[in-house]
Order: sequence, then structure tokens, then C-alpha cells
Amino acid sequence: MSEKETPGTSKKQGEDGPRNQSKHSESLVDAQATSERLESIRTNLNSLFSRLTLHAASDNLLAQQSGQVLEDLTFESFLKHWKDNGFKRIITMVGAGISTSSGIPDFRSPGSGLYDNLQKYNLPHPTDIFELDYFMGNPKPFFTLAKELYPGHYIPSPAHYFIRLLNDKNLLTRHYTQNIDCLERLAGIPEEKLVEAHGTFHTNHCVDCNKFYTKEWLKEKIFGDILPVCEECNGIVKPDIVFFGENMPDHFYTKPLEDFADCDLLIIMGTSLEVYPFASLVANVKPNCIRVLINRVAIDKFSGPDKKRDITFLGDCDDAVWQMADVLGWTNELKDLWKRESSLFEQARKKSDTNADQEAKSPRISKKNSR
Ligand code: OAD
Ligand code: ZN
Repeated sequence: MSEKETPGTSKKQGEDGPRNQSKHSESLVDAQATSERLESIRTNLNSLFSRLTLHAASDNLLAQQSGQVLEDLTFESFLKHWKDNGFKRIITMVGAGISTSSGIPDFRSPGSGLYDNLQKYNLPHPTDIFELDYFMGNPKPFFTLAKELYPGHYIPSPAHYFIRLLNDKNLLTRHYTQNIDCLERLAGIPEEKLVEAHGTFHTNHCVDCNKFYTKEWLKEKIFGDILPVCEECNGIVKPDIVFFGENMPDHFYTKPLEDFADCDLLIIMGTSLEVYPFASLVANVKPNCIRVLINRVAIDKFSGPDKKRDITFLGDCDDAVWQMADVLGWTNELKDLWKRESSLFEQARKKSDTNADQEAKSPRISKKNSR
């Protein structure tokens, strides 16, 4: 993946080409032939333009007939449209903003974002923490951060459960996430509906020989402050998180081909759309597919010149999902799901904290020596 936008090829302003200027005066016959040819070209062009205009008009009509063009591009108008007409094939695309209410910082928010808070690691550049070349030379900063961010401590947000509800109601085609916090899995979005574009802590491999290591194996090393080293070849074992300079998982390239052509609503939440190729997915839907961006700050590059179907909700993801749930009559369902699941996580968390406390107070017995 890359933080830089692929530079577009600059189009040269076309020239008609040099005119052939005959040094000799044309004969009358030649002049007539030329004028006939010009007339024929003009007729063809007229016919082509009128066909193009007809196509544009009928495309517009089709879009209106299929109910895809909103009366106005407000969130309220979008909600009304959803309530009145429904959507059948929804894709969600998210970033760190859907997890900030769970207590995980995002990356680029000034002040609170992770990249503004990595001073203790003395990195030449904040994003180096996820740079493969840097990691190979100095893996410690990443593993120290991984201990802080390791999945298990945080509870999914209402926004995560809203996406789970979409799936429970058979409306979710796929959920594309840049997040590595595993909160989608915890919220019960099934694995086959997930594209974890920037990878996951769920699986791990040796960077040299590619030997697989389990989540439990790596977690023990990370929490024991031990550099995870491959038992086969001494290479570093890294969670399957996609670093800058690495390829995305295969299904990031294959699933969009199945998903985007049919999608009738694209919901984009909590992302700056700064990182490519993930950000480029927003362009994959059909021109009449409604796209809704829910984010605390406006993202200039989101809306293209075609302003017929792009809506921006400026605010928190959780506020937006409660508003959507309200209009769709799902408030109680979302509340029940979120509260029920959150209290289960709280209980499990308290239990594991108590166990950890007891373990710390009791004299340590080495597992190796106990029988
Ligand atoms: P960013 O930090 O770049 O963007 C998060 C966006 O979410 C910002 O525009 C915030 O304003 C917005 N935001 C924060 N909290 C919000 C909330 N509660 N409701 C609504 N909006 C909120 O994070 P990403 O776009 O996810 O790579 O960053 C993309 C990638 O860059 C990450 O996957 C990461 C990083 O390098 C890896 O982890 C490998
Ligand atoms: Zn190895």
C-alpha cells in the first residue's frame, strides 16, 4: 500500500496538427471534392452528437426511474430515500474513525491521532512504524505499539454493530476495513463478509521463511516483551498487517470485482481516504450508486465532478448510525445488540483482569515445571 496518490497522467492539450498548405492553387474540381468531404464529415458529426445527447438523456432518465438520484444531497434526503425505497446491496468501507469511540486513536487527527503521539519511539517519520524497511532494521517500536493496541482490550462501537445489523438483515454485500483492531470480528461480522485490507493480528508469519505462527504464540511474545523470532530460521515473526511497501491480501483485489458492480449504496465511515489503493475503491461503484461519507472532517477528494449522488455527514460515526437506525425503525434492535454484547465483553474483561491480579499476587509457578 502507499500513502501517495498515484499521479494521474497529464493530458496534453490536443492540437489539430499542422495544416497542409499547398504551394499551388487548387483546381476548381479539387475544391468541390474537398467541400463535399467536409459536408459529409459535418453530417456524420451532427449525427454522432445527436446520438450522444440521446444517450445522456436516456441515462439520466434511467437513473431517475431507478430512483437513484436524490432530490437533494442532504443526509436527511438520503435517509428519506432509504426509508421509502430501501437498498439491497450495501458495501461499507471504513477506517480508524469507527473505532475512536471504542478508545482506539485514529492515525491522522491532529493532536489525538497516533502519528502525533509517537515521540517516544524517536522515529525519523511517524509512518515509519508501519514501514517494512524500517521494521526490518528496528522492529522494537512496532512491537511496543502492538502491545498497546493489541486486540482484546477494546469493545466494538455502535457503528460496528450497525454494520453487523446490516449483515443480519441480509443487506451487507461486503465490509471493507483498513482497521487492524479486529473489532469487526468481535462485533460478529462474519469472516466471509470481511475484507481486512490492511491485514490483521489474527495470523502471523516469519518475514524470511514465511512459517505460520498462531495468534496465541505471538501474543505471548508481545506481552512478554520478547522479540518474536522464527523457530526455523531466526527471522522476525510479524503479524499479517500490511505495512507500507507490502502487497494487500489477495481478496482485496478479487472481491471488489464481485461486489462493486451490483452495489446500490456505499457507506464510507471514519477515514481520511489518504491511503491507496484502499481509497481508490470508492470509484468502483456504478455512476448511479449513492455514496455516503460519514466523517468528522470533510474529505475534499471524496466527491467527484458528478455531484448527483454523493452525500457527506459531518460528525461522529455513532451519531450517524443512530440517526440511520432511528429512521429505519431499528433503534431498539441496535441498542439491544450493542448493550447485550458490550456487557458480555465487560464481564469477560473484568474476569481476565481479576485473574491477572490473582496471578500477580500468588507466587509464580513455572508452567514447564508444574505437573
Ligand atoms: P485516519 O486517521 O487517516 O483518518 C481517520 C478519519 O476519521 C479522520 O478524518 C477523522 O477526522 C475521522 N474520525 C475520527 N474519529 C471519528 C468519529 N468518531 N466519527 C467520525 N469520524 C471520525 O485513519 P485511516 O483513514 O483509517 O495503516 O488511515 C488509513 C491507514 O493509514 C490505516 O489503516 C493505517 C494508517 O497508516 C495501517 O495500520 C497499516
Ligand atoms: Zn522463518
